[in-house]
Amino acid sequence: MKILFFVGGISRESLNRKIFHAMAVMSPLDVEIATFPIEELPFFSQDQEKDLPSKVRELKDAVEIADGIVFITPEYNRSIPGVLKNAIDWASRPYGKNSFKGKMVAVLGASPGNVGTFGAQNHLDAILSYLEAMTMAQPETYLKVGDAFDAQGELTDPKLREILQLFWASFMTWIERHDAAGNGTHARHMGETPSAPLS
Ligand SMILES: Cc1cc2nc3c(=O)[nH]c(=O)nc-3n(C[C@H](O)[C@H](O)[C@H](O)COP(=O)(O)O)c2cc1C
Repeated sequence: MKILFFVGGISRESLNRKIFHAMAVMSPLDVEIATFPIEELPFFSQDQEKDLPSKVRELKDAVEIADGIVFITPEYNRSIPGVLKNAIDWASRPYGKNSFKGKMVAVLGASPGNVGTFGAQNHLDAILSYLEAMTMAQPETYLKVGDAFDAQGELTDPKLREILQLFWASFMTWIERHDAAGNGTHARHMGETPSAPLS
């Protein structure tokens, strides 16, 4: 199973990137992990939609071959970082070629702040719903993170480890349940029907 991660924090010391590394280390054995360098995408412009930049084509391919997608988002001013929105906008285009349609997705995020990225995740849920992704509703994973990592960036907090393990298990079950029901869009079914968003 291929799971693609979008990590909205691109700084060297990003807390959310550390969460990603911890999740990669504890991933189930049959899972292949990938991430996409969203910081290498150009700024979205409709001028480039007819002839997509190569990085954008790579992005759409990565989304389309994934069996599941995890978004790990920081919270910037109670929303998601612009760099993450930029990647989502690209993958949703051009009109009729929304790569997220029917994809099994899950969202989590970490912040030192009290609401643990609730505001960002709330916005992200709305975006993904509009894009007809199938977002795992539970467990909601709003992480207020202080000293959970050592100087090497390794996860040292057992409680956080438990939360991330539960997230993994829940997401695998979410994907398998929809697989069994024949719902959702998998790599082999992608891109059959035109869909929102509107031009
Ligand atoms: C522009 C900006 C806006 C921020 N807004 C919020 C916010 O609304 N809520 C919050 O909890 N933290 C906020 N923060 C603090 C971030 O949660 C913190 O910097 C966090 O470490 C960012 O995630 P990252 O380390 O993965 O990049 C903000 C930080 C920046 C730079």
